[in-house]
Amino acid sequence: MPEVRVVNLTKKFGNITAVDNVTLTIRDQEYFSLLGPSGCGKTTLLRLIAGLIEPTSGEIYIGDKLVNDVPPEDRDVGFVFQTFALFPHMTAWNNVIYGPKVKGFDMKQATTVGHEVLEMVKLHERLDAYPGELSGGMMQRVAVARALAAGAQLLLMDEALGQLDAKVRNEIRYEIRKMAKDLKLTGIHVTHDQSEAMAISDRIAVMRKGKILQVGTPQELYMNPDSIFVAHFIGESNFLEGYVTGKNKEGNIIIELREGTKVEALNGSFSEGSNVVLSMRPETLIVEHGLQEGQNVVSGVVERITFEGSSIRYEIRLDNDEMVIAIKPTLSGDWLEVGERTKVFLPVEYTRVFPYPETGLKEELSVA
Ligand SMILES: Nc1ncnc2c1ncn2[C@@H]1O[C@H](COP(=O)(O)OP(=O)(O)OP(=O)(O)O)[C@@H](O)[C@H]1O
Ligand SMILES: [Mg+2]
Repeated sequence: MPEVRVVNLTKKFGNITAVDNVTLTIRDQEYFSLLGPSGCGKTTLLRLIAGLIEPTSGEIYIGDKLVNDVPPEDRDVGFVFQTFALFPHMTAWNNVIYGPKVKGFDMKQATTVGHEVLEMVKLHERLDAYPGELSGGMMQRVAVARALAAGAQLLLMDEALGQLDAKVRNEIRYEIRKMAKDLKLTGIHVTHDQSEAMAISDRIAVMRKGKILQVGTPQELYMNPDSIFVAHFIGESNFLEGYVTGKNKEGNIIIELREGTKVEALNGSFSEGSNVVLSMRPETLIVEHGLQEGQNVVSGVVERITFEGSSIRYEIRLDNDEMVIAIKPTLSGDWLEVGERTKVFLPVEYTRVFPYPETGLKEELSVA
């Protein structure tokens, strides 16, 4: 229910900066994901919001209230962990009404709340089951019910679906999102799985090395990544190295790729001589028989083909020895073969250009 705001938040463990000067607003009733590779600080940020650890510096607001000094039990936060952390010796029912009891509700009130939340998570008929008798998905729903019964307005989930098998995970992630929406909760969902984050989030913050690189809707992050890392981590991208040789009359830049091919790309803001990385989504490349030589047409050889059902994925070695991936809908027909020489068209409107990273492209693409 509440908005959550962190301002210049930092958490250090010795000389490790786990969360590095993060400023972020999660809106009221938003379903928000923190996404990033292992060790980037997601859990630490979530635990700071929950009050399980104290910040080194910075502020945390839940609603309008500065909660730095508020203990976790008074933050109205429900924390659902990767390992379900239900009490194994208690039935689903007792797990759920544990919170209300500890909070000092009378038995009648605790019972009402317990029935309500188990109804919500559709586990009412299993209230006598012990955690060991429930499936992973059910246990996770009990964990959510328990958080709700304890009065959570803000649901914090740390890789909460990580232990479930893929099919159950797909189901339950929508259920949890729907539940959060129906109950008008604010949800913060931590995951390192980009497809999970894309599927369920209103917005996503992409984290790396304790910092937030970009915040946006799944579509914004996919269509307009503002760094090489985000372009690489969300979806898939081709990256080609080059340098800027000038501008054309439309204001687009001309990039000379390795071994001399010149291509045109959007973005006039790079000056001549800049080292850059040209980035393109695989589905924007055009490979088809009969493509003519011309602007932004490069040549190569099909090295590998993967049939993905609805699409076909071509790995093509360009004549400058760089690899590109092109993905085509299967229904387009016009299939290529392994070993075939082909031309690849790089449509200007789908180009994105980034400055060449100081540490080198390879390092930038290493996921950490
Ligand atoms: N209690 C702690 N003491 C020392 N270092 C810690 C502690 N907790 C976290 N760290 C360090 O802080 C960094 C961020 O850890 P964190 O658990 O927040 O990452 P994460 O993004 O949740 O990773 P994962 O996806 O693997 O769960 C890591 O380098 C980690 O080793
Ligand atoms: Mg973690």
